[in-house]
Parts: sequence; structure tokens; C-alpha cells
Amino acid sequence: MAPRERTYIMIKPDGVQRGLVGEIVARFEKKGFKLCALKLKQATEELLEQHYADLKGKKFFPGLVSYMASGPVVCMVWEGTNVVKSGRKLLGETRPDDSLPGTIRGDFCIEVGRNICHGSDSVESAEKEIALWFGEGEVAEWTQVTESWIY
Ligand code: PPS
Repeated sequence: MAPRERTYIMIKPDGVQRGLVGEIVARFEKKGFKLCALKLKQATEELLEQHYADLKGKKFFPGLVSYMASGPVVCMVWEGTNVVKSGRKLLGETRPDDSLPGTIRGDFCIEVGRNICHGSDSVESAEKEIALWFGEGEVAEWTQVTESWIY
């Protein structure tokens, strides 16, 4: 079987500070996605500048980098069919006021500058982001025994 798609999901410093890590992990687990990597990390501004390199010209860029460096983040890799698109649906829209109740941002936040979580926007970005945030050997290959009940 071809390997299933992977995405990079990151719980931002406000999500960690507010004790939402378990809630967010649970939503991805209950959906049926497979956790392949997870770590708590204090990101440097240099790493964040690389992660958000496409946004360098935006007015909010310095604030975004300092917010993201203000405390630890939780870095995760999740795997499953169409996980990039479905993962972003679980997160909700970038702007919390556009996010429906039932999504993570729709349920737990108000401001775009404190929107709790990040999810890759394409398979290509996911590959780049996973390579940026995780070293070799940090992403597990494993078989989920419940898989046949999901697929
Ligand atoms: S844009 O302007 O359309 O390119 O931005 P967008 O694609 O909507 O969002 C890209 C990431 O920037 C974050 N963002 C912000 N952070 C802080 N303050 C403000 N005002 C702001 N606007 C957008 C947004 O959450 C996206 O980051 P991720 O990590 O993907 O959530």
C-alpha cells in the first residue's frame, strides 16, 4: 500500500499555556489519524523566520515571530488519507471569527494573532515543514492495529 499523506500540526504557545494540548491531540486521534511524531520545543526566532519565510513582507510578521517564540510549541506529524485538508478542517479557518463551532479555533479562540494552532496548507508545505521541525529518526513508522476499523 502507498504511504498515506502526512501533515505538520503545531500547537502554538497560547494553546500550550492554556492547557489545550490534550484536547487538540484527542481531536486528531478520535478522527482516526495516526500520530507519527510529537515533541515540545522552544523555537528560536531563526527557526520561526524560516517556517514563516513566505510572510516576511507582512506587517504582522515581527509580532507573529515574537508570539511564536514566547513559549514552547508542540510539534506533531499526523498521517492519514487527505490529512492535510482534513486536518485544516479540524483546526478551522485562520481567522477565529470565520471558524465554525466544533472546530478547534471556532471553539477556543477569538484573535487571529492568538489562534492556537498551525496546520500545513498543502502536501508540499507539509513535507518542507516536517523536514524543518524534525530530525532524521524522529518521525516514527508504525502500524496502527485499529486501522482496519477506520479504512
Ligand atoms: S495572509 O496575510 O493571507 O498571507 O495570511 P494568512 O495566509 O491568512 O496567514 C498566514 C499565517 O499568518 C498568521 N497570521 C497572523 N498572525 C498574527 N497576526 C496577524 N494579524 C495574522 N494574520 C495572519 C496566520 O495565523 C497564519 O499562520 P498559521 O501558523 O498558518 O496559523
